[in-house]
Amino acid sequence: MKNYPLPRIDKDKKLHDILLKYCRLGKGDIWIDKKNKHKVGCLDSSDLKDLKDMFGRKRATLALHDPPYNMVAFQETEADEFVEWSKIWIENSKELLKKDSSLYIWLGADQKNHFQPFAEFILMMKGTDFNSRSFITMRNQRGYGTQKNWMSIRQELLYYTLGNPEFNIKSVYTDIPKVVKGYFKEIAGVKTENIERSKSEYIRSGNVWIDIQQVFYLLDENVNGCFAQKPLKAIERVIDVSSRKGDLVIDFFSHSGTTLIASEILERQCYTVDIDPIYCEISIRRLENYRKNGKLGWQNSNPFEEEIKSDKELQNYLKEKYSLEY
Ligand SMILES: C[S@@+](CC[C@H](N)C(=O)[O-])C[C@H]1O[C@@H](n2cnc3c(N)ncnc32)[C@H](O)[C@@H]1O
Repeated sequence: MKNYPLPRIDKDKKLHDILLKYCRLGKGDIWIDKKNKHKVGCLDSSDLKDLKDMFGRKRATLALHDPPYNMVAFQETEADEFVEWSKIWIENSKELLKKDSSLYIWLGADQKNHFQPFAEFILMMKGTDFNSRSFITMRNQRGYGTQKNWMSIRQELLYYTLGNPEFNIKSVYTDIPKVVKGYFKEIAGVKTENIERSKSEYIRSGNVWIDIQQVFYLLDENVNGCFAQKPLKAIERVIDVSSRKGDLVIDFFSHSGTTLIASEILERQCYTVDIDPIYCEISIRRLENYRKNGKLGWQNSNPFEEEIKSDKELQNYLKEKYSLEY
């Protein structure tokens, strides 16, 4: 079986710079998908002018953002600075959303540092036009800190709205079978049990998600080289509930292109941006690879496999630094 992994690109500046020559977008460029008119922009999500140029008169039904925190850009900065910056792209989202629309934000909470930037962020949101709707917790299967603390396995997803948007929860079930019996209710004079009353043998999705596998190298959707991929199933769940076919979905932090590929699968249009040309390229290639091979990612391979095979400099580098043989 072939095995062509790629190390984390964000941790290796040299690898990043070598791969740049294989990226079709430079800063400020926008790729337009001929088939379904998705767009990928190599833009800064805090730059409203560039975003407006990309969007034209089009406005979105759903924004789904996963900003970086505790990564290169914010390694040394305080929560306040992160939140000041967040306020800008939140306001930019509002400019590009319809009057009835939804906004979801993945947000970490650093348990070793007063759970920042969670509190600062939700207070900042109070000063915007968005209404708070739900605080979803997604459970990871693997965590850290099992010996001296509660294992940290949660991921936080905040749900806000503008106006009165779509919310199609009726069709969205988890994979968890209904097992709790004895919850009776009288319907038209007849005492009915929980399971008889339901259309589905599975439970509906609430705001605690325990049925989603976090991404790891053995999954088909894994994108080697990326480090912050969200599970496709989580993104699909949000898109399913908070938009309809044909609607525009936006994501200001594309990275591995999860929102783009989920939008393609669920027949939505997606406009997404990333400040880094490498992640723009990976997002576009993920979509192309899905269309060509029906694959959700690159298990046992990576988005730049073909180039690496014919690039001696890159091969030597990967061999010397990581003992990777191509
Ligand atoms: C946490 S990752 C997003 C992961 C994504 N949800 C996925 O499933 O792959 C954050 C991404 O934001 C990008 N980014 C950082 N600052 C940005 C900015 N100012 N504008 C646009 N993208 C930015 C980073 O390059 C990184 O790829």
